Amino acid sequence: MSAQMQMIPAAKPMVGAEERAAVDRVLLSGMMAQGPEVAAFEEEFSTVVDGRHCIAVNSGTSGLHMSLVALGLKAGDEVIVPSFTFAATANSVALTGATPIFVDIDPRTFNIDPQAVEAAITPRTRAIQPVHLYGLPAAMKEIMAIAARHNLLVVEDACQAHMAAIDGKHVGAFGDAGVFSFYPTKNMTSGEGGMITTGSQEMARMSRLLRNQGMEKRYENEVVGFNTRMTDIHAAIGRVQLTKLAGWTQQRRANAKFLDENLNGVVVPFVPEGYFHVYHQYTIRTPGHDRAAFAAEMVKRGVGNGVYYPIPVHKLPSFALTFDLSQTTSATKEVLSIPVHPSLTQTDLETVVSVINSIAAAGA
Ligand SMILES: Cc1ncc(COP(=O)(O)O)c(C=O)c1O
Repeated sequence: MSAQMQMIPAAKPMVGAEERAAVDRVLLSGMMAQGPEVAAFEEEFSTVVDGRHCIAVNSGTSGLHMSLVALGLKAGDEVIVPSFTFAATANSVALTGATPIFVDIDPRTFNIDPQAVEAAITPRTRAIQPVHLYGLPAAMKEIMAIAARHNLLVVEDACQAHMAAIDGKHVGAFGDAGVFSFYPTKNMTSGEGGMITTGSQEMARMSRLLRNQGMEKRYENEVVGFNTRMTDIHAAIGRVQLTKLAGWTQQRRANAKFLDENLNGVVVPFVPEGYFHVYHQYTIRTPGHDRAAFAAEMVKRGVGNGVYYPIPVHKLPSFALTFDLSQTTSATKEVLSIPVHPSLTQTDLETVVSVINSIAAAGA
């Protein structure tokens, strides 16, 4: 890349004057901790999860952990998870004392394979925690049917999939609970933050208790809880971002369509019929190429990229387990996420396409 060349970044959080004004409003109010902004954010977020109860927390990781605690997961229980994901999916399970059981993915969608889920069920299995990876919903109809047959709980890791849907039903509205992240690179941000969604009044109440030291009434702690509250500062940012989410999602999808139609020589994302992909990441495979060389050449020519994820979670030093997950292993070696974010210009998109097509054609 020459000194003058502008790098097209792999991701770009978009915050501006409205977010700054919202933060100012909270700071000037003198009330910064969880308050009216959080309550309003919860009510507003409920519109993108088909009216489910929403409980705002300080991160997606906390939300996953708390959901599993609220649902009663404990040592000796097994929870089925993918290994092709961010470590937080499995960390949240391990932190309850339960055991994550890692299963393979469908190589076309990168999401957990329902057949592999069913094959992994044992008398100890209590829950399934599918991930809507890259913004594509996991096979929720199949997973919910398996859960119903075996009487299992389902917690959706929707951290990457705000507004994704299957046949019009939003993710976060399928399982016993769903969890979203508002980390800065996500499709919308609150700085840091997360949202638990649930259809159960009881689960919602327990999540609110766990978020606040187990208290509904001050100093009358009902259960042992955390402090995982979201601040009003973060909620104020999240509220502004939520008003922009639908437009940004539309732009991500338009960018993805352009990439789908113009990329050659690489495998583009597969979207099952009726699935609404929100393209948190646009992830290609580069079979037959040395991925590291491919990625480095892209950067040299001004196109940022990322590998999500290079190591299966079960093989990380924090787990170091043995599972035979061949599709997961090949995905970790082949995937490459390229720019799709809503601030790309048409010129950026054309550059991304021409750079990738020429590297693919040259057989890097
Ligand atoms: C799939 C997945 N699960 C969980 C998380 C955890 O979210 P957070 O970073 O908000 O704790 C993330 C995001 O970072 C994620 O991508």
